[in-house]
Parts: sequence; C-alpha cells; structure tokens
Amino acid sequence: MISRKSVDEVINAAVIEEVVGDYIALKKRGANLLGRCPFHDEKTPSFTVSPTKGIYKCFGCGKAGNSVSFLMEHDSLSFADAIRKLASKYHITLEEDTLVNREEYDEQQKKRESLLVALDFANKYFIDQLHNSDEGRVVGDTYFRERGFTKQTIDEFQLGYSPQGWTSLVDAAKAHQFNLTHFADAGLIKKREDESYFDLFRHRVIFPIHDLTGKVIAFGGRQLVKDDKSPKYLNSPETDVYHKSNVLYGIFQSKKAIKTLNNCFLVEGYTDVITLHQSDVKNVVASSGTSLTEGQIKLIKRFTDNVTVLYDGDAAGIKASLRGIDLLLEQGLNVRTVSFPEGEDPDSYCKHLGPVEFKKYLQEQEKDFILFKTDLLMEGVGNDPIRKTEVVKNLLTSISLIPDALKRAAYARECSRLMDTDEKLLLVEINKLRKNKNALDQQPIPQEIQEILHTKTELPPQELYSGGDEQEMNLIRLLIQSGHKKFMEDATVADFVFKELKEDDALKIVNPVYQKVLDEITAIMEHELDFNEQFFVNHEDAEIRKMAADFLTEQHELSSAWSDNGIIVKTEKENYVQDLQSLFLFLKKSKLEQLIKANLEELQQAEEDEKRNFCLHYHIQLTEVRNMISEMLGTVVN
Ligand code: CTP
Ligand code: MN
Repeated sequence: MISRKSVDEVINAAVIEEVVGDYIALKKRGANLLGRCPFHDEKTPSFTVSPTKGIYKCFGCGKAGNSVSFLMEHDSLSFADAIRKLASKYHITLEEDTLVNREEYDEQQKKRESLLVALDFANKYFIDQLHNSDEGRVVGDTYFRERGFTKQTIDEFQLGYSPQGWTSLVDAAKAHQFNLTHFADAGLIKKREDESYFDLFRHRVIFPIHDLTGKVIAFGGRQLVKDDKSPKYLNSPETDVYHKSNVLYGIFQSKKAIKTLNNCFLVEGYTDVITLHQSDVKNVVASSGTSLTEGQIKLIKRFTDNVTVLYDGDAAGIKASLRGIDLLLEQGLNVRTVSFPEGEDPDSYCKHLGPVEFKKYLQEQEKDFILFKTDLLMEGVGNDPIRKTEVVKNLLTSISLIPDALKRAAYARECSRLMDTDEKLLLVEINKLRKNKNALDQQPIPQEIQEILHTKTELPPQELYSGGDEQEMNLIRLLIQSGHKKFMEDATVADFVFKELKEDDALKIVNPVYQKVLDEITAIMEHELDFNEQFFVNHEDAEIRKMAADFLTEQHELSSAWSDNGIIVKTEKENYVQDLQSLFLFLKKSKLEQLIKANLEELQQAEEDEKRNFCLHYHIQLTEVRNMISEMLGTVVN
C-alpha cells in the first residue's frame, strides 16, 4: 500500500500537460492547451488541458479529471497503478505503508515477483528460439506463417517456440544462474526423481498469456502435428500469478478497442483472437476453452457492457455457451451472438471469407440472444405444445436473470412475439422465477427498490443537466459523515454508494466539487484510511474546504428538499439502510425530473416527426420510472 504522503508527493509532481502530452498532441490556446480527445472520436479538438488547475476536460464527451484520473481512464489502471506510473515518470520513490502482516505480504510479493521473472525469462527465450534458432525458424515460424500470421502479429502477441529437446529451457535458465524452483513453480519445468529438471513445453508453438498490464503470467503451447498421445494445447497450471478464472486471453491487446468500440467479441481459442486481430477486429478476447466465469465477465465489464459471443459451429460449442449467455445476462451485460457454419470457428471462417466479408458477416449475422436461443431451441419442435412450453420456460429463465426491469419487460415482449404467447402471462412467470431466486440472496435494500435504481436511463447525447443539486449534496454529506462505516457484511457505506452510482448513468454526480470529494474518498478507501468532515474541512483544495465548512453549519443540517417533503433525515442513525435507500430514490427522481424537463423543452422545439417521436418515446420512458419512484417514496420513507 502506497503511503498517503507518497501519493500527495506524486500528485504534486505530476504536470498535467506532460502526462496528457505523452498520449496526444496539444496546442496552446490562451491559458489552456487544446487537443483531440482520446476518449471519443472527434474531428475538431475539444479536449482542454488547464496547466494552472492541473486538470483536463473534454467539452465533447464530458470526461474530466487530473493526471491520475487521466491515466486510470486512458490506460485502464487502478488508482494505485496510476500513482506508480506517475512515480516512475517523475522518479519518485514511493513509500509503502506498514501493513499489519508486513512479513507475510512481503513474502508473497517476493514469490509473485520471482514467478514473473521466470515467466518473463521463458517468454523471451521462446521468442528468441522462434526467430533465432534453426529449429524455431524451420518448424515454429513456418507453422505460424502457414496459419497466415504476419510478422507484425507474431510480434504483437509475442508468439514463440519451445524446442524439441528435453532441457532447452532448463539449460538456458541455468546458464543465467536462475533458481530453477521458480521455473518449476511457474509450471515451466518439472523435477525428476533424480532431482534433475526437464522442460514441460517441448516442440510446441507458444502463446504467452498476458495480464491487463501486459505482464506474461502463463503460456499455452500448441502441438505442431496432430498427436493423440498428447493434448493439442498444453497450458500453464494455476499459480500465484495465474488464476485462470480471472483471465481472458487477448485482454491486454484488446482492452483499448473494447472500450472505444464499446463492445467485446468473445471467442473460444487463442488463434481466433489472433486471426480476428489481424483482420482488424481488435475488440476480441477468448475464454481459452474453459466455460466462462464470473471473474472473466467482471473483467469485460470494466471496459464495456456489450458482449457478442462468437460460437464455433459445432453442437458442443453451442451447448457450452448457453450457460455463458445466462451468466453474462445475470451480470447485466447486453448479449448478442453470431454463429458459424458447422465445422468452422471464427479463425477458420475469417480466413475463408477474408477480412472484409468477415466483418460484413459479423454485422449481418449478429442476433440478440433471445432470437438466437429461440431459433436454436425451436429446431425440430414444430407445433408440439408441450415442447414449445419447455422452450418458453427456458427463455424465461434467461430473461429472469437480467437485473434491469425495463430490459426484462422488453424481452418479455419480444418473447411473446416470437413464441406467440401472452405477454402479461410471461411477465408473471418471470417475476415468479425472480422471487424464487431472490429468496436465496438477501439484500439490505429491497429488490424492488434496487430494480428501480438499477433501471438504466438512456441519456441524451449532450448533457442536458449540468448543475449539481440538493440531492447530490445529501448523498455527499452522508458519505462524508458515514462513508467509512460498515453497511453490510463486507462493505462500507462508501462501497455501497460507489456501487450504486455506477448502476445508472443518470445517477452520475455532476457537481464538480462533489465529484472531487468522490475521487478523494476513492483514494482514501484505497488506503483503507478513515475520514470525516474534519478531513475535508482541512483539505488543501479551497472549494472542498468551503463545502465541508458549509456542511458543518446549521442551515445545511437539513436540506430544504427533504424537509419540504416532510422527511427528516437523521444523519447519525444506527442503521443507514433507510437513509441510503430513500436518498438514492430521491437522487434518481431528481435526475429524472431534470431530464424530463429538458426533454419537454426539446420536444416543443422539435420540428421533424422523427425527433418528436423520439422525444415522446423518451418522455414515456422517463416518466414511467419517475412515477414508480414517487409512488415508492410514499411508502419507503418514514
Ligand atoms: N484448449 C485447451 N486444451 C486443449 C484444447 C483446447 O486448452 N487440449 C483451449 C485453447 O485455449 C484453445 C481453445 O481451447 O484455443 C479452443 O480449442 P479448439 O477450438 O480445439 O482450438 P483452436 O483455438 O481452434 O486452435 P486451432 O485453430 O489451432 O486448432
Ligand atoms: Mn481453430
């Protein structure tokens, strides 16, 4: 853990125009600098950097922050990693906080580092063998070339070759005076009974597996000729640095494209990822032949909410993937699918069609999961009513997993259309399924309230509301006062608030000072420190100081919005559940009301039918949720 002192030192040393300037070209414009936004596509520059304030803001997409948040966003780093990156840029030595179990932590860290060193050495060795040994060139490179991989692709994915001999890597490691136990722990070599070591990866082409930051954490090695006596792919075992269930092959090379394109293609194999990349489909990762896990989905969710699953065209592949679809839906992702002809996988079919036709194929064949499942399950069912009912039940089970109520309703409608069944009946069934499921995992906030809060509001292209409001203040206030207190079994009030804020874009805190406070609290939480109003009253930032001071003064104890509604907020309650749930409901209601107002203005000015229709439709959506909340507030708040 980096000490607070070091964090401050790094933040003070970072020069925003230098940090941003490493990534984009900036031109002087008055007191500020201007460039093209790296976070969205734009022709005219609207990305502004203010050297005096140490911040950036894009007037096109609204992204804003300081050096740290820039790196976090741009390179998808955690707070701590962004600080580390800046520290190395400015040659600052970070001071680590003493941990309770410092020795154990050091021990583990040392072990992980030794593994990474061994893996890195092996990776370089395999690459070197591919390019610089006769065997590697004749066998390995020829293999890759026959599969159509270009030099650039081979380099980008750091592909390599492990020679036929039994001790090639062992000998190389010995020659460099490495301690072989780390190589054994990394699953690269193994000890014989006579205590001598031998290589595990032999006579294979090598696919290194990278973590998010590009470190090699494991390998997959493919046999060169079909040999039923050994597996087609040999993979590294689980180690302290390689936890299969949290890793996706290709994430390092693809994360940027996934974020920019806001979609992720999910395939099964190493070669699928590589061939698609080479064909300019760069937003692609592989589950590497295992069934998808929650950890892998969470990894995708860091970059996008949209997944397109590409299925190999065989029955086994498709069966295995149905469970994957349910897991993805359950995590709130939007799922589409593309399937391929029998016997083809994305790699082979991409080669068959060529990149241009392949891209077209993806676009044309993309189906929403519900249509995909319906087509698949209805095969051969015909009009048999019993079998048809089974299909409907299967579809409803998937739909019931979707956390967002409006999306569920939309899918119920789609299902009713596809299966020619009564929509209301379907909704009743879906709710039954959900009740059964929810009985299992008890939530501190009732399901129906969570659903409303998690119902995603479609935001208009420009920000229609910009002012922070009273409800934002109430939330920040509660966070400052009680953020570090325990809320659930393993989460603080702040953990809960941050999680909820992410659920719907409309809940976004727009007041810049409050946003600063949120960033600050995120940083504090990373360090597992405590905080209260005093921390903010003494803050170095004048705006934050003023805000905290305001919070401490009498007239702000109760916000007018709350008292107008006849609601008394008891801030120092034993139980924050009621406070928080009504707070979030008020926040969402207020955000929706701002959107409704802005949308109505838009409607009045709209001249084309299309635009009017859009506004009307949007109005209905917004008011529907707003009304649900109003109704609920009557009952929730005491
Ligand atoms: N896999 C594995 N071990 C095996 C077979 C497969 O780990 N014995 C994993 C690999 O990650 C592989 C993925 O499952 O990439 C998909 O398997 P498969 O479709 O058989 O291989 P492809 O990726 O199509 O590889 P290739 O095109 O080289 O045959
Ligand atoms: Mn293949």
